[in-house]
Amino acid sequence: MDPVELTDLIPAPRTAACRGSSPGYLSLDEGTTLDARPGTEGVARRLRATIGAATGLPLAPGRDPRGILLRISARVEREYGPEGYRLSTDGSVEDVAVVIEGGSAAGVFWGAQTLRQLLGPDAYRKAPIGPAGREWELPMVTVEDGPRFSWRGVMLDVARHFLPKDDVLRYVDLLAAHKLNVLHLHLTDDQGWRIEIERYPRLTEIGAWRTRTKWGHRASDLWNDTPHGGYYTQDDIREIVAYAAERHIRVVPEIDIPGHSQAAIAAYPELGNTDVIDTTTLPVWDTWGINPNVLAPTDSTLRFYEGVLEEVLALFPSPFIHLGGDECPKDQWKASPVAQARIEELGLAGEEELQAWFIRHFDRWLADRGRRLIGWDEILEGGLAPGAAVSSWRGYAGGIAAAEAGHDVVMCPEQHVYLDHRQDGGADEPVPIGYVRTLEDVYRFEPVPPGLSPDAAAHVIGTQANVWTEVMESRSRVDYQVFPRLAAFAEVAWSTRLPAAPAERDFADFERRMTAHYRRLDALGVDYRPPGGPLPWQRRPGVLGRPIEGAPPNV
Ligand code: ACM
Repeated sequence: MDPVELTDLIPAPRTAACRGSSPGYLSLDEGTTLDARPGTEGVARRLRATIGAATGLPLAPGRDPRGILLRISARVEREYGPEGYRLSTDGSVEDVAVVIEGGSAAGVFWGAQTLRQLLGPDAYRKAPIGPAGREWELPMVTVEDGPRFSWRGVMLDVARHFLPKDDVLRYVDLLAAHKLNVLHLHLTDDQGWRIEIERYPRLTEIGAWRTRTKWGHRASDLWNDTPHGGYYTQDDIREIVAYAAERHIRVVPEIDIPGHSQAAIAAYPELGNTDVIDTTTLPVWDTWGINPNVLAPTDSTLRFYEGVLEEVLALFPSPFIHLGGDECPKDQWKASPVAQARIEELGLAGEEELQAWFIRHFDRWLADRGRRLIGWDEILEGGLAPGAAVSSWRGYAGGIAAAEAGHDVVMCPEQHVYLDHRQDGGADEPVPIGYVRTLEDVYRFEPVPPGLSPDAAAHVIGTQANVWTEVMESRSRVDYQVFPRLAAFAEVAWSTRLPAAPAERDFADFERRMTAHYRRLDALGVDYRPPGGPLPWQRRPGVLGRPIEGAPPNV
């Protein structure tokens, strides 16, 4: 028997083995103790809050050969890295029934996620569903594991459609269950500003609301006339960051400049190109696409965003701060005497270099404060700032160029891992946009393109699935687009077992393990796309997207 087949784990671990040809089982019961050695107390708290709640077992503190032991191990760190772990449920370590050793607390935490999967789908519920006195069987195995990439991310666009705080916290839990460790929050865009900035209250008083919303994508002529909006207070952000940290997930904030800024300009018209258009009449944008209303390249705009970022840095401990940089049309800068004077004064070759100047300013500004800038691959145009890292979204090319030049790269090409794109070519797919990317396509996505030199490949620090929400008006629409594909993505990001060549990946085996995983998603209450296609209430008949093969995502 294939030892991984034995356990139905997603993402697949490096190794999973049992003694003999089939596993024995041990059971957890009222007497099962939990012994958290130094540094693992937080993981113990999470185990009680998840597995404890689902099983109803107290998992009382204490040392007992029939119990669970958590500890940090230098040997595991050496062999599998700080996020690696070794989980044994066969009493083979120190004669304790269940031992999770991690390279750090994060490794112990990921090992605890594997333990949860081994207990079966009901371990994902929030309360026990009986019968009373039920025994919780655990296969007796040894799992040795560690991640392929240190950046295993999901970007949530909370700007196009606001996702209330509780839904963000729920997504943190869903990421954790899939061993993903970066939540990139796209906090600002033309259609909404979603983070309270105390010194600029109009950003949320004005910028967090729009009067109506395009219903569907650009092919649609429907409107939703209900005002839409919302934002996170600074306390909400602190809560999200702390909640994620308890689950060993880093939150990377994105403040998108100098394009995708109409909501900010609606709030503070002086941020726009006032010598080209009357920015005092600009509303928060109500439709989708690439917007011509970009920031003015003035000193006062720089000072304004330094003020924003001072508050952002105080809220987010992430070493990386994302400053967007994508899709910034240059038409207003071409028409603006102020922008042209700035180009002249700085001795720049043109508007592309003006964008690079903007980004370089903040690259230095962040570096002076011990942080690193990351941006979409447009920040390569006009010369990449020295310390910057790149989110490669328009395919692999930007990432390849950046990695070969020695910059860190997160691979998130739209052709593969944009989860807003439709996951089937059928007519029932709700608001279909972009490329058809099935579960199998995502499973066969390879973040490190062949031909990259070994040095450059080492600069691919990870990969990310991006969830743009123009056509996702609710949590259940987000669930539908994200799942089940996020399970395939998690295996790509985590598992060292996958062959690099996409064609050599065993999708049939993944699908077999998905049978168990769908039951976990059911217990978690995820509105995934069923393998047979959307359920009646998951369809959006008549709401148009842009189902053209090869179309860019935001058209
Ligand atoms: C992007 O999709 N505009 C980064």
